[in-house]
Amino acid sequence: MYRLFFQLVFKRMDPERAHHLAFRWIRLAARVPVLRTLAAAVLAPRYTQLRTEALGLRMHGPFGLAAGFDKNAVAVDGMAMLGFDHVEIGTVTGEAQPGNPKRRLFRLVPDRALINRMGFNNEGSAAVAARLAARRPVFRTTVGVNIGKTKAVPEADAVADYVKSTERLAAHADYLVVNVSSPNTPGLRNLQATEALRPLLTAVREAADRTVTGRRVPLLVKIAPDLADDDIDAVADLAVELGLDGIIATNTTVARDGLGLTSAPSLVEETGGLSGAPLKARSLEVLSRLYARVGSRITLVGVGGVETAEDAWQRILAGATLVQGYSAFIYEGPFYARAIHKGLAARLAASPHATLAEAVGAQTRKAAQ
Ligand SMILES: Cc1cc2nc3c(=O)[nH]c(=O)nc-3n(C[C@H](O)[C@H](O)[C@H](O)COP(=O)(O)O)c2cc1C
Repeated sequence: MYRLFFQLVFKRMDPERAHHLAFRWIRLAARVPVLRTLAAAVLAPRYTQLRTEALGLRMHGPFGLAAGFDKNAVAVDGMAMLGFDHVEIGTVTGEAQPGNPKRRLFRLVPDRALINRMGFNNEGSAAVAARLAARRPVFRTTVGVNIGKTKAVPEADAVADYVKSTERLAAHADYLVVNVSSPNTPGLRNLQATEALRPLLTAVREAADRTVTGRRVPLLVKIAPDLADDDIDAVADLAVELGLDGIIATNTTVARDGLGLTSAPSLVEETGGLSGAPLKARSLEVLSRLYARVGSRITLVGVGGVETAEDAWQRILAGATLVQGYSAFIYEGPFYARAIHKGLAARLAASPHATLAEAVGAQTRKAAQ
């Protein structure tokens, strides 16, 4: 049904307009008590066997919405209503900014992929912090806050920009993510080099501890799939050394290898980050590599090309405690999270593992034997 609707309506619309339209419907539905209760009953069934403890937090399940969909934290309840067990808002930057000129989002439908060069369009840390502070949650869900650098801030002042966002947002975050992996802010990915990453993560950790007393806000870093294997290992080692809570693997890619030669070449050539199905193999590879390096010392979050329950299950077996999706939601529609939960529960029941936690990393551990 959604597929037909997508073909007839969304596919004919500019992708960013379609996003805003769908987003408005989700927000509207979440505001009407009868509608949201009904929608949640259908789309967000709970499976006790999928209950997840991660980052010191209790969640209904392991599957959440990746950053970039709800940049300004306007639809957290709407996304929870659709069955996402956690919602990562952002990327939020220190200051508000409009992002790159439009058109900046492209659908590669035959490849089940997207290319975006949004460039962190968002209302800025002060506005988003105010919105989160005023929020009266309807559904209990975990809210991650993903922060990045304001484009106008020079690379040399990046740390201060991240610290500003941390001071404003950490108190409202169940977990905080330092995003150094978007390809659409010039120079941002240079911050993944350990010489730059060490002072950045140290400063953000200190800022979070200074601002939020009474609990320790879990801190994660989100990395690109385009890092060389040695650099992935270096980030993993640094994360352990600094006592980081987690790593999110991965952001979008600047590579174009995975494309099935079916999307128009003009689209494939658009500048930006590629996400969706063509990213699946590399994201899984990065995740397995991270797990082989850090094991259970750090919580790993698997994202990139997760379309089906089988994909989510493979991420868990590779080492992910949490799994996220974005692009497949555009193609699969409102039943996306529900299908993942149902399939995960079935896979867990059919597996030799008694709990989901036991399944985490099982495949990677076996491969290492
Ligand atoms: C339109 C769009 C905007 C995105 N914006 C952000 C962002 O602001 N911050 C971020 O960390 N990741 C962002 N991402 C990356 C996603 O969070 C995710 O890491 C990536 O798309 C891979 O997952 P997927 O294949 O399920 O889409 C964005 C992705 C898309 C498609």
